Parts: sequence; structure tokens; C-alpha cells
Amino acid sequence: MDSIIVKGNGPLKGQIPIAGAKNACLTLMPATLLSEEPLTLTNAPRLSDIKTMTELLQSLGAEVSSLQDGKVIAMSSHNLDNHIADYDIVRKMRASNLVLGPMLARLGHAVVSLPGGCAIGARPMDLHIYGLEKLGAQIELKDGYLHAKAPGGLKGAEMELGFASVGATENILMASTLAKGTTVIKNAAREPEIVDLANCLRAMGAQIEGDGTPTIVVQGVDRLGSATHPVVTDRIELGTYMLAPVIAGGEVELLGGKIDLLGAFCEKLDAADVSISETDKGLLVSRRGDRVKAVDVVTEPFPGFPTDLQAQMMALMCTAEGTSVLEEKIFENRFMHAPELGRMGANIEVSGGTATVHGVERLKGAPVMATDLRASVSLILAGLAAEGETVVNRVYHLDRGYERLEDKLGGVGALIERVQGV
Ligand code: EPZ
Repeated sequence: MDSIIVKGNGPLKGQIPIAGAKNACLTLMPATLLSEEPLTLTNAPRLSDIKTMTELLQSLGAEVSSLQDGKVIAMSSHNLDNHIADYDIVRKMRASNLVLGPMLARLGHAVVSLPGGCAIGARPMDLHIYGLEKLGAQIELKDGYLHAKAPGGLKGAEMELGFASVGATENILMASTLAKGTTVIKNAAREPEIVDLANCLRAMGAQIEGDGTPTIVVQGVDRLGSATHPVVTDRIELGTYMLAPVIAGGEVELLGGKIDLLGAFCEKLDAADVSISETDKGLLVSRRGDRVKAVDVVTEPFPGFPTDLQAQMMALMCTAEGTSVLEEKIFENRFMHAPELGRMGANIEVSGGTATVHGVERLKGAPVMATDLRASVSLILAGLAAEGETVVNRVYHLDRGYERLEDKLGGVGALIERVQGV
């Protein structure tokens, strides 16, 4: 397994291009299953998760080609010859469960393995099942697989999600585009990736209103057509790299960055004494003084503070002036980066879903272990500011969500290199 070596090297300077959103692309790709016509995505990110989704769609009979060095994904689901999403692929990537709604709507049946738990939590699918059953699907669990049927097709319905689940909203939204009649999804997720999916589905001929608000209304149509859709900018990659000049010092311009993608996150950074200004190419970020101020964080569904930026914010708070309390309210086990940061000299107390971080002057480089995607990148960020060398092991986690991370950070002056694993 590869490792990444980071050496604290002082202030960063320059530009970092932000790629298309992993979490938008992973729901846009299964949308091809809804239509016999081609669907082409541009501005796609080059990530291992995208390769996994490609494999899964191909296993169902879809044609998926990666063009222009992976930035364009051309798909066609004209001949789907398999309706089983196998455990071997689904267990690697939970987002595989997003083929359930589209397959059910298009084929009238689908068999999708339950993803099983992952490092950050149990990841159940009860809300996905609730919404699809509301649309008339019959779903039963057998041998770890969800067996879903809708022999007479899906019918529009009104429903209210017990939690604004991103994945459940995406599965239900995609399925409802081909359901007969009107569907109303209350307490729907409002993330920018939901709006991006709705924009793509509308381009394919779907009739959707209210995406980005808590209530989405869909008028079902008989069939969807073709579209070419640009994947929205990755707000989590954006937020991650915004913290690089804040942690290490200096000033970096994030190309393609927009403040409205990051609601509460930018407000928190402002309170922590970080300067964020909009340029004609993106966002220019630096810290105002020598040390940021400690701020408290509670993770919430959009537009609240994103859970996918909690680990990165914790890395920043490790060297802040004061004490910061971070509450993780979305996932049950998303503090695995805390003990690794502790190895670098951070002073963090974890109790249940709350982490209290007492800021220290400086972290010290150390060998640390990546445990999940966002925890891994928080260790890289901490390494940028630490004294000496930090070796982050098991960086395959990173490659799931960050394309060319070493080039992007190296391009603004970070001392960072990848070492091939034995
Ligand atoms: C999406 O996961 C993202 N993944 C996650 O990003 C992100 O952390 C999460 O949304 C929250 O923003 C993709 O988009 C591919 P949820 P998802 O359904 O859809 C519980 C990353 O690092 N829940 O909103 O799985 C669930 O257990 C990844 O890029 C149920 O209880 O998230 C969790 O505690 C990590 N029942 C909470 O809701 C359900 O049926 C949020 O889950 C579904 C979810």
C-alpha cells in the first residue's frame, strides 16, 4: 500500500484547480440507467470511486467509456442485461446502492446488495426502502440483498423522510421521474449534489421542482431522453484545500470555488479569523493573523456545516488559539482521525459524538494511519503545518476522493511525495 510523506515547509502560494464533485458524479452516473438514450458527463473527477461505479454499471450491461483522460464519461444503458448489483462491488463503495432506484424505475425489478457498515458508521438503508415502498415497490431482504419489484411500474406518492438523507433523496428522486403521477418528497436533502442531479434529470426530460429546498415535487414522465451535463464543482475538495493555506500559512486561489457551495463552512472560517475573497477565477484564501481562533462546530445536513469537512476542520483547530468543541451529528463514528492527530501532538478529548480540541502552538510530524477518506486528508493537512516529516499510510482511502493530491498541493509549494507501497 502506498504512503504519502509530507514535510512542514512554511507558507503556500499559488492556485489549486478544483475538480468535479465525487458525490455528484456518483449519483449522476446511475441516472443513465433511467434512459435508453446516451448520457454524457463532463468535468468528471478522476477518482477510484468513479472507476468502481463504472465497473458496477458495466456489470449491469451499461456501456460506459471514459474519454479525455477521464474528464468525460459517455454512457448508454440501451441494453441492460443484468439487474443484480453484486456484494463484491457494493461493499467497496456504499454509493453503489444508488443503482437501486433507477433500475427499479426502468426495469421494474432490482437486486442490490446491502452495503454493510463502513469505518464511519452502520450506513443503513431504511429511508431508501421507505421512499421506494411509498412509490409502490415491494422490497424484501434476502441473504444480504435487497430484492425490489415493481411489476406494474411505480406510482407517484407523497412522503416525508425521517432524516434528510442524501442517498435516500437521490434514489427516490431518480425513481420518481418515471413513476406515474406526482411525487412529493418532504424533508428532502438540500445538498448542491441534489440540485446538480435534478438539473441533469431535467436536461433528460424529467419534471422536477423544489430541489435545494426541503420539499421536492416530481411529475412522472413516460421516458427520459439523452443529455450532456457538467458535474458541479466539488465543494468538499474545495473546503479541504481552502484549509491548506490556513493551516500552513500563505495565500492560495482555489480555481472554480464558489462561496454558495459551502454555506456554514465559510462563516465558521470567517469567525476563525480566515480571509476568503471572491476573484474572477474562484476564491482567494489566507489566514488574517499568525494563528486562527478556535471555533465550535456542529455537523448538520446542508446548508449546515458539512460532516465531510469535520475531520479537516479538526486538523485546523489542533493549532488554533483556544479550545474548540466539534460535534459530529451525522455519523456515529467519525473521529478516527483524532488519535492519529494525537500522535502528532494534538490535544483532543473524544467523548461519544463530541471532540474537544485544545489548540497547541505546533504539531510534530509522525507516522500516522489513514482510516477513511476524509480522516486521511485531515492528516495530510496537519502534516503541512507540522514540524518535521509526517508519513500517512494506507493512502488508497485518499485516492477515492482526491485526484492528484500531491500535484495540487505540491503545485503551491508543499513538500509532499507519494511512496509506492511494498
Ligand atoms: C452521502 O452519503 C455522501 N456520499 C457522504 O460522503 C456524506 O458524508 C453524506 O452523504 C452526508 O452528507 C455520497 O454522496 C456518495 P446520508 P449518504 O444518507 O447518502 C443515516 C464522503 O466522504 N441514514 O445522508 O450515505 C446514515 O447512517 C462520503 O464523500 C439512515 O439512518 O449519507 C447517516 O448516519 C462519506 N438511514 C446519516 O443518515 C438511511 O436509509 C447520513 O446519511 C440512510 C441514511
